[in-house]
Amino acid sequence: MNCFGFFKDSSKTNKENSTSSAPKTNKEKSSNQVSKSCSSLSSPRGISDLYKEKENSLRVFSLSELRTATNNFNRLLKIGEGGFGSVYKGSIKPANGQGDPIVVAIKKLNKNGFQGHKQWLAEVQFLGVVNHPNLVKLLGYCSVDGERGFQRLLIYEFMPNKSLEDHLFNRALPSLPWKTRLQIMLGAAQGLAYLHEGLEVQVIYRDFKASNVLLDEDFKPKLSDFGLAREGPTGDCTHVSTAVVGTYGYAAPEYVESGHLNVKSDIWSFGVVLYEILTARRSLDRNRPAEEQKLLEWVKQFPADSKRFIMIIDPRLRNQCPLNAARKIAKLADSCLNKNAKERPTMSQIIEGIKEAIEDSEGRNPEASGNLVDSNWPFNQSGVTSSPRRVMAHQLPQPASVNRVS
Ligand SMILES: Nc1ncnc2c1ncn2[C@@H]1O[C@H](COP(=O)(O)OP(=O)(O)OP(=O)(O)O)[C@@H](O)[C@H]1O
Ligand SMILES: [Mg+2]
Repeated sequence: MNCFGFFKDSSKTNKENSTSSAPKTNKEKSSNQVSKSCSSLSSPRGISDLYKEKENSLRVFSLSELRTATNNFNRLLKIGEGGFGSVYKGSIKPANGQGDPIVVAIKKLNKNGFQGHKQWLAEVQFLGVVNHPNLVKLLGYCSVDGERGFQRLLIYEFMPNKSLEDHLFNRALPSLPWKTRLQIMLGAAQGLAYLHEGLEVQVIYRDFKASNVLLDEDFKPKLSDFGLAREGPTGDCTHVSTAVVGTYGYAAPEYVESGHLNVKSDIWSFGVVLYEILTARRSLDRNRPAEEQKLLEWVKQFPADSKRFIMIIDPRLRNQCPLNAARKIAKLADSCLNKNAKERPTMSQIIEGIKEAIEDSEGRNPEASGNLVDSNWPFNQSGVTSSPRRVMAHQLPQPASVNRVS
């Protein structure tokens, strides 16, 4: 997925790229875009302090090791491309040199990539500190500064089932069942709750979107991409002020307008992805008719309590999605998408909401039984909607990538 600049300060980026190769652990480096008036700098112990305590747990790789691991970054082993650079599947020797090779994903910074060193550093520091089953594991890194420029790489555990984005929007892959979608969102919510509420430092993830939810062999989700993560506000501060980065279609409006960032920005993005799992439509899809391109504007015409609501549910979910569970998810999404950030729920509240929807979907909740979408489903045998507008939308080519603001 490609990204483009927005409020980008190129002089700052160049300066940052010329810094030394080893991961810096001072606070200034990891927080250099936070405003002085109300920042995370006042935290008694910041991420960089916590990282110092744990940095030896990350393995430092040489470039030649990674060349061997990827058959010299063979394009046949390339499994993805993002704003940071290319991602390769590779195979490394275990740290002690014994046992079977380990399959890994290796992300290589594109030298011209504007996310650059600063995001590589943030990723090393945040992933070096966090530890949760719903966050991807960083195994190590490689950092080389040579005469011909620098190389920055990240080595992760390999996630064999691609991303939530692939399974929602790539029609070549089988449709994700409703309950799997809910379980994935539950796991993702637990990962975010850990970042928001479960660490000594509050972490704002800042880039929650379907492509950053990776899936393991059992379709358990793990959040990846911590290059944009920030420490949350401390003391009396309600937000940190930063340059606006993120992805169009997922970023909270108050953050885009003011640069004021707090955990409620992540909650907004979570609400967007809840609507994506419900509709299997991208938050921003320029290949759809004008009035359907922005998912949040389109779904407003189909409120969760209305009869029309059923029209927005992914047609591939028919026969498996209890209507009241779907309504619950839409209402949860609406609460996440409250214009007033303070009114949005916490991640713990969201976890409860998703668990209830899962219970409804398992038929354990008496109100859910006999209320399957099946009986009211507005699609004909071929699975094509009876709404002319949706027929048009489904016949359109698959959408272009979502753009990132950075
Ligand atoms: N640990 C991993 N295991 C397996 N595949 C991975 C892993 N990390 C990334 N990938 C693959 O590489 C792709 C690109 O990931 P990357 O995070 O670089 O970009 P993105 O999330 O698509 O876009 P953006 O840079 O805007 O976040 C992912 O969609 C996924 O398919
Ligand atoms: Mg990503």
